[in-house]
Amino acid sequence: MERFIELANGIIDPDLKEKTIRMIQNPLPTNPDWRHSGLEFRKSPASTNMHHCYSGGLIEHTISVVKISSAIADVLASVHNADINKDVVLAGALLHDIMKPMTYEERENGYDASDGAKILDHIILATVELYRRDFPISVVHIVAAHHGKGSTVRPLTLEALAVHLADTLDAELNNSIMEGAKRISNARLKELGCNTGQEALRKLFDNISPYKIVMTRQKDGRDAVRKLVKEALDVSGD
Ligand SMILES: [Fe+2]
Ligand SMILES: [Fe+2]
Repeated sequence: MERFIELANGIIDPDLKEKTIRMIQNPLPTNPDWRHSGLEFRKSPASTNMHHCYSGGLIEHTISVVKISSAIADVLASVHNADINKDVVLAGALLHDIMKPMTYEERENGYDASDGAKILDHIILATVELYRRDFPISVVHIVAAHHGKGSTVRPLTLEALAVHLADTLDAELNNSIMEGAKRISNARLKELGCNTGQEALRKLFDNISPYKIVMTRQKDGRDAVRKLVKEALDVSGD
């Protein structure tokens, strides 16, 4: 989580910075009736079967949302002269999916929703927790509205719009990369005599980032991908 703390240190307002860092270090819901500890943040996927659905996917996604929303805020400020609060964007982006790990469980063949998630989803959990911890309402709104039309409230501030668009864009980017990595890997898995189903791919992406597979194919070719897959799955096929 050091990377998150480093990013949170970019928040200028001392009170918001302190609250954000405290939330990153201890995100567990403060309601004593909540009993689902979920996964560790650093190991958590960002979804069970869609974007970033592999170990470490949530960290990748959150860092990307921080960077993309910050770039959108810069465009709004420098090109359109918008008065946009970058502290609020940064805190909202860092915390937008902070409760996702509480809503997952690891199963033998992948990730699934925990019992807790069936009662309260990650947006409700984070929204009530940020409200309870006295975060500025502008930050609570970002978290509540970050799924856009899929949220109970739509993004109604530039800061919330920046985080919502960054969230959507990064999920789309990852879906495209995963599609490419699946195609590239399936061919090599077949050559190595391995299974090519969903479970085999999840195991592969838990060990190698799909971005690395796509970049290796583009830069170094098929044989380099084959070597990468072979090492990641520890198979001896030739
Ligand atoms: Fe989300
Ligand atoms: Fe997200």
